[in-house]
Amino acid sequence: MTLAPKSRTKPALASIMERMQALAAADLAEVERLLAERAASPVSVIPDLSAYIISAGGKRLRPLITLISANAVGRANAATHALAAAVEFIHTATLLHDDVVDESDLRRGKPAAKAVWGNKASILVGDFLFARAFNLLVETNSLTILNRLATASTVIAEGEVRQLAAMQTRDLPTEEYLAIVEAKTGALFEAAAETGALSAGAPAHADALASYGKNLGLAFQIIDDVLDYGGTTSVIGKSVGDDFREGKVTLPVIIARRRGSDEDRAFWDRALNPATPEDSDLAHAVHLIRATGAAEATVQEAEAYAALAKGALRGLPASPYREALEDLADFCVSRAY
Ligand code: IPE
Ligand code: IPE
Ligand code: MG
Ligand code: MG
Repeated sequence: MTLAPKSRTKPALASIMERMQALAAADLAEVERLLAERAASPVSVIPDLSAYIISAGGKRLRPLITLISANAVGRANAATHALAAAVEFIHTATLLHDDVVDESDLRRGKPAAKAVWGNKASILVGDFLFARAFNLLVETNSLTILNRLATASTVIAEGEVRQLAAMQTRDLPTEEYLAIVEAKTGALFEAAAETGALSAGAPAHADALASYGKNLGLAFQIIDDVLDYGGTTSVIGKSVGDDFREGKVTLPVIIARRRGSDEDRAFWDRALNPATPEDSDLAHAVHLIRATGAAEATVQEAEAYAALAKGALRGLPASPYREALEDLADFCVSRAY
């Protein structure tokens, strides 16, 4: 991956994730137990499909954010564990729905659940996991936390629908792109961090962690969007070029289009119309995104959000947990190095 200049040093990604997981090992084990336990149902497709995607090796970023946020300002407890499991169930449900909406066939390095069980089962099991998440949230005994995740879920849905409407917009304003990203991805990261603090009985730190989560989510999704044009399938576990084939306008495209010639803009307008694909289009799109410096500019935008995320942690007590949250911001951006 050479989206960013060589001057940046690539932190040892695996080691950052391993350190995070080690810090939260006991808590994470309890969350994993809850994920397996609460996917149970007498209707066998539900546990089969759920186990398939849950055991496929997701990064568990969002529950880690909840657990580590709680430990950064207090102590993770049974409510935090139920909350973290609910957060991962909500995320998993959105992925099951997302791969149908995006017509994606690969997820977490394996055929997407919808490619194995079909679209209908993928959507319906997603509904099941969404609902189960809310059972878990009731177990936190906090209407505030329940309300926060209910609102985040509505905002995610709004973001997804807003993105659908934006598919037709070739000159999508950056502000609209960012609003979509903040809704579809930022909202869950934000709620995951904020409610982590609430579950640990530390409401004084909830706003700071909410800001951390929102900005981290923005950085994470912006990097995910650049990886769609420069990552490798084996690394991202998803098919490269999905956004392009689908005609989804993301930040690297917005920048490349703005910086390009009239001829380039004509290319983008034709190629992003999924009705007229040509085999060589993706390679040309990747070329333009690099040649115009759009890949680098996109990484810089993500770096700015990661810096905001880290800055939001200033008022938290110094601890290995706060450091882990800071490292996580570096991790999210360094996926593009
Ligand atoms: C994928 O999220 C969806 C986006 C917001 C880009 P992750 O990359 O966190 O997915 P998993 O859980 O690790 O598979
Ligand atoms: C993932 O979004 C779903 C949500 C954030 C709700 P994307 O469609 O952008 O992410 P991938 O590339 O499929 O993981
Ligand atoms: Mg999508
Ligand atoms: Mg998708």
